[in-house]
Amino acid sequence: MTKLTINGRELEVAADLDTPLLWVLRDELGLTGAKYGCGQALCGACVVYADGAPIRACVIPVESVAGQKITTPEGLDGRVADAVRSAWTKHDVAQCGYCQPGQIMTAIALLNENPAPTDAEIDDAMNANICRCATYGRIRTAIKTASEILKG
Ligand code: FES
Ligand code: FES
Repeated sequence: MTKLTINGRELEVAADLDTPLLWVLRDELGLTGAKYGCGQALCGACVVYADGAPIRACVIPVESVAGQKITTPEGLDGRVADAVRSAWTKHDVAQCGYCQPGQIMTAIALLNENPAPTDAEIDDAMNANICRCATYGRIRTAIKTASEILKG
């Protein structure tokens, strides 16, 4: 058994210690917000936070995050998350939607670090999140809108 803290809840999971965190979240806990894309840390569909830092849950063994605070897309809250959600809705960013939880998790992490990113900083932060529907332009616009919202 591995003890985890997921979205503020402490729990124990039965998966083998080397099982990727993404499998535990989706298959054992029913938290399907983080998606499976590549399974090789290349696409960003599976981004969650460990102690506030983005990680790629498809390649992280569950034992390595024991004792850390894991946040999944289902557990997002706070001012930055609200601003990003609002901007995503305003610009109708999602197309098929599959990559969007990972895009949003990465965008929030960027804005937490840098509330007023330039276009180049946005591109740099987001360039390892793949979108097969090519929503990149709307993602960049929405991040800039979220930044404006945060300025108040
Ligand atoms: S599924 Fe984890 S990065 Fe692609
Ligand atoms: S919205 Fe379809 S993969 Fe990004």
